[in-house]
Amino acid sequence: MSELVLITDDGPVRTIRMNRPEKKNALTMAMYDAMAAGIESADKDPALRCVLIAGAPTVFCAGNDIGDFLQAAMGGAGLGMPILRFLYALARCEKPLVAAVQGNAVGVGTTMLMHCDHVVASHEARFSTPFVSLGLVPEAASSLIAPRLMGQARAFSLLVMGKPLNADAAKAAGLINTVVAPDAVEAEAMKAAREIAGLPPQAVLASRRLMRGAPDEIVARIDAEADQFKTRLQSAEARAAFEAFMMRKR
Ligand code: COA
Repeated sequence: MSELVLITDDGPVRTIRMNRPEKKNALTMAMYDAMAAGIESADKDPALRCVLIAGAPTVFCAGNDIGDFLQAAMGGAGLGMPILRFLYALARCEKPLVAAVQGNAVGVGTTMLMHCDHVVASHEARFSTPFVSLGLVPEAASSLIAPRLMGQARAFSLLVMGKPLNADAAKAAGLINTVVAPDAVEAEAMKAAREIAGLPPQAVLASRRLMRGAPDEIVARIDAEADQFKTRLQSAEARAAFEAFMMRKR
């Protein structure tokens, strides 16, 4: 396990914490793999009943590491296998997923929340998906889930126009459940995770399956988006955007 992702079990709750605060929790391939492994193994372990995804006190996740995107673009690659493994793990996980969001949730930092069952965020949290301004397309099946969740107009504003949502707007859009003070986020999320873990597990599983249906449609959309993503990564638009980000402070 990479130390950039910390995995801890506390009774029936597994916490998967992104731990690269100096890079605003931008996700590397090793981090995706570690997070995927944490979800997959929690799903198989009958002692674990809920998975809590958390970030750092000032940032949830700044999305994919843009340096990795630039490398993939230059090498003719698409979304790497670790990214797809993580997205499939989210889509196929049968245990309830809870998230604790403080600060920025960018790109996959926001789209991963669309797979969660309960999200607690601080009132200063900010949710954004600047895919199109990076020359890319939405991922993590967000092109399917977001319009269903918040309607076409709000999903277009978020996913295509790249307009961020503040915590209240994210709550109104159905992306998150609860907005609390920054120092209450972790405790509130853990309280919800424990509450879910305290319910009859087989009834939770059956209810969740009924609500979500089979993951096939979600997985198929992850794959369709990944096809487009690969093409877009090679585009001049994307390469220029990545280079601009990498060069912005030099
Ligand atoms: N990939 C690679 N590095 C990233 C990163 C990313 N997605 N997001 C942040 N970082 C790095 C910065 O380059 C900086 O590194 P440095 O200290 O070596 O210069 C460090 O993390 C801190 O980031 P900074 O931009 O100074 O923090 P901030 O608080 O001013 O802004 C964000 C935070 C998240 C708003 C901003 O970093 C950002 O917009 N990141 C890019 C998000 C993005 O577009 N992700 C891809 C989505 S598809």
